[in-house]
Amino acid sequence: MTTDYKPQRETKDYQAADAAHHIHAFLDQKALNEEGPRVIVGGDRLHLWDNDGNRYLDGMSGLWCTNLGYGRKDLAAAATRQLEQLPYYNMFFHTTHPAVVELSELLFSLLPRHYSHAIYTNSGSEANEVLIRTVRRYWQVLGKPQKKIMIGRWNGYHGSTLAASAMGGMKFMHEMGGVIPDVAHIDEPYWFGHEGNLTPAEFGLRAARQLETKILELGAENVAAFIAEPFQGAGGMIFPPESYWPQIQRICRKYDVLLCADEVIGGFGRTGEWFAHQHFDFEPDTLSIAKGLTSGYIPMGGLILSRRMAEVLVEQGGVFAHGLTYSGHPVAAAVAIANLTALRDEGVVAQVKNDTGPYLQQCLREVFGNHPLVGEIQGVGLVAALQFAQDKATRKRFANEGDITWRCRTIGFEEGVIIRSTLGRMIMAPALIATRGEIDELVGKTKIAVDRTAQEIGVL
Ligand SMILES: Cc1ncc(COP(=O)(O)O)c(C=O)c1O
Repeated sequence: MTTDYKPQRETKDYQAADAAHHIHAFLDQKALNEEGPRVIVGGDRLHLWDNDGNRYLDGMSGLWCTNLGYGRKDLAAAATRQLEQLPYYNMFFHTTHPAVVELSELLFSLLPRHYSHAIYTNSGSEANEVLIRTVRRYWQVLGKPQKKIMIGRWNGYHGSTLAASAMGGMKFMHEMGGVIPDVAHIDEPYWFGHEGNLTPAEFGLRAARQLETKILELGAENVAAFIAEPFQGAGGMIFPPESYWPQIQRICRKYDVLLCADEVIGGFGRTGEWFAHQHFDFEPDTLSIAKGLTSGYIPMGGLILSRRMAEVLVEQGGVFAHGLTYSGHPVAAAVAIANLTALRDEGVVAQVKNDTGPYLQQCLREVFGNHPLVGEIQGVGLVAALQFAQDKATRKRFANEGDITWRCRTIGFEEGVIIRSTLGRMIMAPALIATRGEIDELVGKTKIAVDRTAQEIGVL
């Protein structure tokens, strides 16, 4: 980072120009314009600075993406070298380039061996758009063109484009612009949120069996795939009970429904395994990837296919009628190579698994295990959620839980820590390079934010 950064313009000038021309993500634009956004100007490792010189510990790795933290000169150098050598070329004209070839070699050396092919995109949303067309094509080639329906989960998140948001289960997104046909949903495996007395294991089985019920209702001959995040990110870092994934896998296999894991958040070390499905021990047919692929330094995503699927598409599929101008972009590929090489050679993923991951989880349980505002702590590796609850024993949630967590997030910013609110949960996912000291700072500042929130609502 440019620690000697001098503000180029007054913050209020940036804010006024931003308000005049820019529509932000997932916010009430008018309300934001009245408040004015923070102007972030630089970052180093886990810390960010704004235009007014305030320093924040980024507990969210940007949006779960800056896995190597900010300020990596090796990633910047990789981009510069590639920009000078070959800034762009396409994959349409019977052509390829070294950067994308070498990225694929590296990627498949890190993935389990039953994956063999990638379709590169610019983002996670695009990866999931491509997923729909690809799985439908797969079934067409196998002579089952009626197998078209994608089953997702309520409150799942697969991106913001039309089809990706339709497969996701955020109803407020469906209300803006509608959905596509041939998409269905089942409930999320949110044990803390269920009304009843099932144990987590019983609840996990029940949540998984909803998939079987839905497949039978729609007809297995019509269902192409089930898509889900191994742990549900934007929907609140919801970790399913252990009984869930084995049962889901069994159901998908039984009814010949493809199992598609959205690894956009979970991929590249977040859980302490290279991919989150490895932590939960199941074997998806496809993986959607993005974010951590380049540590967010440059946009890139992709769809990973199992050897079984790729063989059908390559050997029997004929023309694959899909392509993006920037698929496998050389500069993005070069940054991805530098990023994956660093994650591997610096032992970052192993450190998350063996040291910093368990340390974060232990600290959170020590600090918040008996906190009056916290009903449940979930997480593994460097991803975690604090469920706010009115009564932990009965799992009673606050009627206005979204307001309470939003307030906690705002206080977090005031206290110099960025943590995210999702309905009733505060979530965190710091950069995978976090040291124990940086984790202490994250947990310490989060404690101040949660305490202040608890005091404001009168429970502390
Ligand atoms: C699980 C998951 N899938 C897909 C996406 C969409 O990725 P992008 O924002 O790169 O389009 C996201 C973004 O947060 C995500 O969390």
